[in-house]
Amino acid sequence: MSDDVRAGLEGVTVAETSLSRVDGEAGELVVGGYPVEELAGNATYEEVVFLLLEGRLPTADELDSFRADLAARREIGEEVRNVLRRAADEGLPAMDALRMGVAAANLGGETGDERETASRVIAVVPTVVATYWRYREGLAPVDPRPELGHAANYLFMLTGEQPTERAVRGLESYLVTVVDHGLNASTFTARTVVSTESDVVSGATAAVGALKGPLHGGAPGPVLDMLREIHERGDPGTYVRETLEGGERLMGFGHRVYRVRDPRAAVLSEAAEQFYAGSGQAEFFETVERFERVAVKALAEHKPDRPLETNVEFYTAPLLWGVGVPPELFTATFAVSRVGGWTAHCLEQLADNRIVRPVATYTGPTGRTWTPVEER
Ligand code: ACO
Repeated sequence: MSDDVRAGLEGVTVAETSLSRVDGEAGELVVGGYPVEELAGNATYEEVVFLLLEGRLPTADELDSFRADLAARREIGEEVRNVLRRAADEGLPAMDALRMGVAAANLGGETGDERETASRVIAVVPTVVATYWRYREGLAPVDPRPELGHAANYLFMLTGEQPTERAVRGLESYLVTVVDHGLNASTFTARTVVSTESDVVSGATAAVGALKGPLHGGAPGPVLDMLREIHERGDPGTYVRETLEGGERLMGFGHRVYRVRDPRAAVLSEAAEQFYAGSGQAEFFETVERFERVAVKALAEHKPDRPLETNVEFYTAPLLWGVGVPPELFTATFAVSRVGGWTAHCLEQLADNRIVRPVATYTGPTGRTWTPVEER
């Protein structure tokens, strides 16, 4: 590959943002000016989304009205439910259903105001995911409850039961921690789409497609399978060795930007530890921590020149599983949070826009002459 090509746009700066800053060398993440650890320990999801959309934390009155506004936009129409039922009946993955649901987010309420559309998209994502899941389970969808917060309402719509405070706290920490993360692949996708002066719904729909892949948001499902297998077999060393010797990647490790442990892994490991303590499943969490130690050591020996540390997805898996999110919905639950970041980035891009249009080095043939079809 020629020297002037930056494969995967690695290290290329293409925008200014005031939303979040990722320091890969120091292992720091700042969201809206606050270290992620500070937010995860204190904020609700609604507060962090307000912070991203407005650039500051809400007052108590502003928070009340923002929560009420989001809650009032949660419902989805019968047409969207039908599409989700069909997706569930055909066994399509949750992310395919979510892509269709988000694409329909401007049905019945489009005002042309992109800030309002952002709220609508953020509000409907949990409803779309939960509705799809209820159909997948052969159950009737559960209507959203306006008096519940974003995290609690999502769990309620999944199960039809009032979630425990512990589960809500665990999910809230997760939603706050992963809401925004610089120009990751899905966020860049969303910004690229709106840079053509397209709209927030189109940006978010494309972002769902980008998040789906295993190199981005699709890792925590395989991470959980791996952890459950190790918990049963009790031998992380053999699993890690066989995976690496087989030329495969260990899911939940490595990152494009971080050269040290992902700070979100630290936040989520603490949240998961708190959740599992006294849950009756503390032994499973011990397996998770033991696996991390073994894997990090083996990866350092496997690739001495490339730091491969724990990423956010590693602790996402046990935390989401613990609070009751089914593994099939892990990536879609990532979207439940990240849609806050996607939409804020879309609005930031639109406020000071230049169409995204990089160039490629052409490596194909040149100078060919046309051969009529009957002579080929
Ligand atoms: N296990 C084993 N080896 C790895 C891993 C891993 N998890 N990650 C990277 N490597 C190796 C690669 O094989 C490569 O080796 P090579 O030079 O011999 O080919 C080297 O380290 C560099 O890897 P790249 O693919 O160049 O790293 P890149 O920055 O492109 O990829 C990524 C980062 C996609 C996260 C990668 O580390 C990976 O695939 N991890 C596993 C999947 C995962 O956990 N995804 C979630 C990421 S977090 C998120 O998106 C929210």
